[in-house]
Amino acid sequence: MPTTVVQADPPSGLLRPVCPADVDVLYAMQCDPEANRMAGTKPRSESAFRDLWSKSLADPDGLHRIIMHDGEVVGGISCFEMDSRVMVGYWIARSHWGRGLATRALAAFLELTRRRPLHAYAAVTNVASIRVLERCGFRRNGTFMGHETDRYTAGEVVMLVLDEAPISP
Ligand SMILES: CC(C)(COP(=O)(O)OP(=O)(O)OC[C@H]1O[C@@H](n2cnc3c(N)ncnc32)[C@H](O)[C@@H]1OP(=O)(O)O)[C@@H](O)C(=O)NCCC(=O)NCCS
Repeated sequence: MPTTVVQADPPSGLLRPVCPADVDVLYAMQCDPEANRMAGTKPRSESAFRDLWSKSLADPDGLHRIIMHDGEVVGGISCFEMDSRVMVGYWIARSHWGRGLATRALAAFLELTRRRPLHAYAAVTNVASIRVLERCGFRRNGTFMGHETDRYTAGEVVMLVLDEAPISP
């Protein structure tokens, strides 16, 4: 696992640390059927979601931020370890899609953590997410066929990686 270097949040107000009260809002977002269809995921049960966040917030190797817009919680972005890789993932409330928030949030997050390489997976059909990642300097690094699980729907998945310092979108 690469060394963790966490810097102070940028002063933009776009990202802030997660507090326990945010979990209700994040839970509502992760239940959105259209967002799940896009991401190729199945929503977690409320108890599974709360358990995951309890563990995530206690995990010193993870980094989690709330995405804010006009004083409102509009999403979340995290990096975490999976399969010995440092992964990044994010979610924006559907009411705020298409405003450049994911791109700006990812760019700001890449300044907060300099852990590299940083990996991301996206359903091949999730063109918006792939675009966000590529605008922030990630490159495609292959595909695999994802099988149906409790968490994921079956489908082709693109693997992306950021090897070096981020590029401003
Ligand atoms: C994917 C997601 C994070 C994008 O968030 P967003 O704030 O709308 O993204 P942005 O506005 O920053 O950028 C989206 C980019 O995709 C492009 N885009 C969106 N839909 C597109 C489409 N159907 N075809 C091509 N490009 C598309 C936008 O034009 C934009 O690119 P641009 O800035 O060059 O114009 C958001 O839709 C979401 O949370 N989805 C559900 C969860 C999810 O998929 N998470 C990621 C899992 S890998």
